[in-house]
Amino acid sequence: MFPLQRYRRLRQSEAIRALTREHYLSPNDFIVPLFVVEGKGVKDEIASMPNYFRFSLDLLAKEVKELWQMGLKSVLLFVKVDERLKDNRGEEAVNPSGLMQRAIKTVKDAVPEMLVMTDVALDPYSVYGHDGIVDQGKIVNDRTNSFLAQMALSHAQAGADFVAPSDMMDGRVLEIRSVLEDAHFTDVGIMSYSAKFASAFYGPFRDALDSAPVDVKDIPKDKKTYQMDPANRSEALKEAFTDIDEGADIVMVKPGLCYLDIVRDLANEVEVPVAVYQVSGEYAMIKAASEKGWLNHDEVMLEQLTAIKRAGATMIASYFAKDAVKLL
Ligand code: PBG
Repeated sequence: MFPLQRYRRLRQSEAIRALTREHYLSPNDFIVPLFVVEGKGVKDEIASMPNYFRFSLDLLAKEVKELWQMGLKSVLLFVKVDERLKDNRGEEAVNPSGLMQRAIKTVKDAVPEMLVMTDVALDPYSVYGHDGIVDQGKIVNDRTNSFLAQMALSHAQAGADFVAPSDMMDGRVLEIRSVLEDAHFTDVGIMSYSAKFASAFYGPFRDALDSAPVDVKDIPKDKKTYQMDPANRSEALKEAFTDIDEGADIVMVKPGLCYLDIVRDLANEVEVPVAVYQVSGEYAMIKAASEKGWLNHDEVMLEQLTAIKRAGATMIASYFAKDAVKLL
């Protein structure tokens, strides 16, 4: 008797492994998240995200040129807003000369072909650190949608190619799409954070933007009334189908690693590209463990990114984009 199948025949050399490999990473897979701050000459390392930075506009221009040269062709912009400009309505978010609007123009001036995506949510602008307008201890849905649509419009006017609502209000994609259509921004796309879970993995991001929900009496201290429960699976499909019906061009699952079952569900069921956001906490874990010498940074990073693709991601927003592309 001998084993009827010897699977190891296809594993015995790098040549045969390469020939039979099902999934590859390439620079085309990545969206690069970028944090933008006011100032000049600022390249400020984020404490809980080693080797990841907040850039002022001058250095943002330099950074995107470098990304373009590396073959990285899309960015997702986030801004850190001065405390004094925060309120409960997001007035600064629709300021035509606000930091986000200037950041969009800066990227387009530096590299006109770079695809510019922008985060659309209230939290960096909110005194409460919430993604929506807070009224009597609740995050109100429909008023938030009107605001989000104006914010998206403002980004489109500044030159954004895609807007990425990350707030998880119901009906916001439809409202954003309608306002963009009315203003003739028919080519501006929507990448919707469709299955965004109420995850503890967003901690370092909230440090980066100083955007964590505040600890104030009668204000919700977490985002569980709008972001999804990590225990839920079928709801993610409903969220994605609804967003597609409302006009989303791309749907996103977030975070990545813990939610690859959701990624596979969506990849099987929806007809639009599926994006995955490998979030700040996922980045921080690999950095911390490898700093201690407990994990091999590059191998773990590539293994996780490959797993995200294998699960069905068409694209990955990742703080590892540069690190990964250097190794490919
Ligand atoms: C804000 C937003 C968050 C992230 C992206 N957009 C944080 C949150 O919802 O609290 C998290 C990204 C990351 O952790 O890398 N709406």
